[in-house]
Amino acid sequence: MTQPFIKLENITKKFPGVVALNNVSLDLYQGEIHGLIGENGAGKSTFIKVLTGVHTPEKGEIILKGNPIKIENTKHAIDLEIGCIYQELNNIPQLSVTDNIFLGCQLKKKSGLLDYETMHKKARELLKDLGQDIDPTLPIEKLGMGHQQMVEIVKAITKDIKMLIMDEPTSSLSETEVKELVDAVRKLKNKGVGILFVSHKLEEIFELCDKVTVFRDGQHVITGNVSDFTNDLLIQNMVGREITQQFPKIEFKKGEEILKVENFTRYGVYRKINFSLSRGEILGFSGLVGAGRTELIRGIFGADPIDEGKLYLNGKEVNINSPEAAVRNRFALLTEDRKTQGLVLNASILSNLIITCLCKFKKGLFLDNTKICKAVDHNIKSLQIKTPSPDTLAEQLSGGNQQKVVVGKWLNSDAEIYIFDEPTRGIDVGAKVEVYNLMNKILEENKAIIMISSELPEILGMSDRVIVMRNGNITAEIKRNSKQFTQEDIMHASWDDSAIKE
Ligand SMILES: Nc1ncnc2c1ncn2[C@@H]1O[C@H](COP(=O)(O)OP(=O)(O)OP(=O)(O)O)[C@@H](O)[C@H]1O
Ligand SMILES: [Mg+2]
Repeated sequence: MTQPFIKLENITKKFPGVVALNNVSLDLYQGEIHGLIGENGAGKSTFIKVLTGVHTPEKGEIILKGNPIKIENTKHAIDLEIGCIYQELNNIPQLSVTDNIFLGCQLKKKSGLLDYETMHKKARELLKDLGQDIDPTLPIEKLGMGHQQMVEIVKAITKDIKMLIMDEPTSSLSETEVKELVDAVRKLKNKGVGILFVSHKLEEIFELCDKVTVFRDGQHVITGNVSDFTNDLLIQNMVGREITQQFPKIEFKKGEEILKVENFTRYGVYRKINFSLSRGEILGFSGLVGAGRTELIRGIFGADPIDEGKLYLNGKEVNINSPEAAVRNRFALLTEDRKTQGLVLNASILSNLIITCLCKFKKGLFLDNTKICKAVDHNIKSLQIKTPSPDTLAEQLSGGNQQKVVVGKWLNSDAEIYIFDEPTRGIDVGAKVEVYNLMNKILEENKAIIMISSELPEILGMSDRVIVMRNGNITAEIKRNSKQFTQEDIMHASWDDSAIKE
């Protein structure tokens, strides 16, 4: 491994008001997994887009196998054997697995007709090579996120690439899916493919990567062998300071029952769900992806109809049959999918932040702009949203910063019951602490939170009580101060079929 596959030297890339990359250099080798970490907006995705020809840097040099080169566009990058799986997947949902894999390079028979037989066969083999048993004739939208991710990988490797870039590939995968992905990535490495792996989850960096690089504010901070780092050292390099408390949990005195859910059932999805929630409490929902948590929450929020069940707010039965009714009843739902449900991408950060609470800012017939600007400035500061201005469009923010806007939007509403579905997905370690502090603030105001999370440390770190779901059933309910409040017990309940009543 004498010569790097690709060498980037003194790369600078600017956007209006932001220096996204400032004189960054990095060497990437074949057969090596290189982790790239950094806070939201540090420049990771921008760096990747320079590598794949999406962005042209203002300054700097790219040297491929010893020769200086200009990467023109993504197609050119693929010709240069550089493949990429972006932060937001770009499969075409209605097309089959095979069609997605061979998009742009379909195999044809001598007659000129498409050779589906061979393509399906090849797709099946390639997936098998990665340990995946997926039917290639299925439309992509029928697959879970984990399998969709695998198809993206196969798509990249059919093009014979030598360098695979993965931008937060595990952020929407379950634990089992992550394990499969890790295995698949290792297989690629053993075949001599180099991998650049971006993640906010440090445990993945330690498990998978040979080397790690930290970016901060568009600058290269450090590169080294993973074995030379500790968790704390990485965090320190990322945020430029020490984080003393990753989970700043405050236990508040529980108030009255604010919500009671009785016998909630949606046939085939979840059944006979019973639980209550008190003021001052965070109720965590744990379970594997697909356990029915998101669906249950959509039922409570009136986004999907239910077949049976009752809902009580402050002791009174209410009928919530639409999200509008839920908001009127002072629910707030922070969805797991910020792109389609949480944000208006082509609107400004300011508009997104005040959209749920316009009436708070009314002055006669008009809106009180001074008040709005003050509130929005406060949001941007307290959530550390990295943006040149409140007028910047949401789509121009980095992935994690978009998530912070979604959180901020709901914090401005005057809700009483907050439902957070994967609230810190894609958010860096420093900003996570800010989100947790905001949760504390919500509880301090005598309100309550339901938090769905696939990250067990977060569930254990912040919940007062945890409900574990499996296949649409509740399999355990564990209080914070009980002996069972452990990672092992929660995992066990997530897999426990015997706890499911007939
Ligand atoms: N198309 C764009 N137009 C304007 N600014 C942009 C654009 N893309 C990125 N930026 C800005 O460049 C900076 C770096 O963003 P980038 O997406 O590279 O961050 P990141 O490290 O990938 O963050 P995250 O962890 O949140 O995904 C941010 O301040 C971002 O707002
Ligand atoms: Mg990014």
